[in-house]
Amino acid sequence: MDDLTALIHHLDDAVRLGGPAAVTGRIKQELERAIHDRRVSLPDRFRVTRPEGYARRLLHRSDDLGYTAVVMTWGPGQKTPLHDHAGIWCVEGVVEGRMDVTQFDLIATGAGRYRFEARGCVHAEVGSAGCLIPPFEYHILANPTDTPSITLHVYGGEMTSCHVFEPQPDGTYLRRDKPLCYND
Ligand SMILES: [Fe+2]
Repeated sequence: MDDLTALIHHLDDAVRLGGPAAVTGRIKQELERAIHDRRVSLPDRFRVTRPEGYARRLLHRSDDLGYTAVVMTWGPGQKTPLHDHAGIWCVEGVVEGRMDVTQFDLIATGAGRYRFEARGCVHAEVGSAGCLIPPFEYHILANPTDTPSITLHVYGGEMTSCHVFEPQPDGTYLRRDKPLCYND
């Protein structure tokens, strides 16, 4: 069995645990171990960056267990807007490079405006993974380096859209639906 197939088997076992806290905790362990042991060897097409923005490519979809694994490839300086995860749990691991992860707390909503407070920035190195369990799901991911970074994301479903939050001059944010697709 090749390394990626073995990792998928471990993810299957983790998702069978049931509740989001148990599942994401186990996936975090599995991802960190696999990356640390250099068992996440991705085919070349996952390494290709896109000038328009970070690339999002499907690595695995389990129809039986209802989860997906997605690889994202980040050119120098590429980042997401502030976004949510459509209520889907997620574990995100750094496979190559380095990522800055800034988590936000939603502190107020009203009249179509959203207020957030940044909870500080985590500098995530290769082999570190983080869990996102709704409702604590607001964040910005950025590749702060001048070389590409690669991340692996495991979602408790298929994220076909999410919300992005656009900063306004008065410090509030406007919410917008963002359809998500795979880049090939
Ligand atoms: Fe995210």
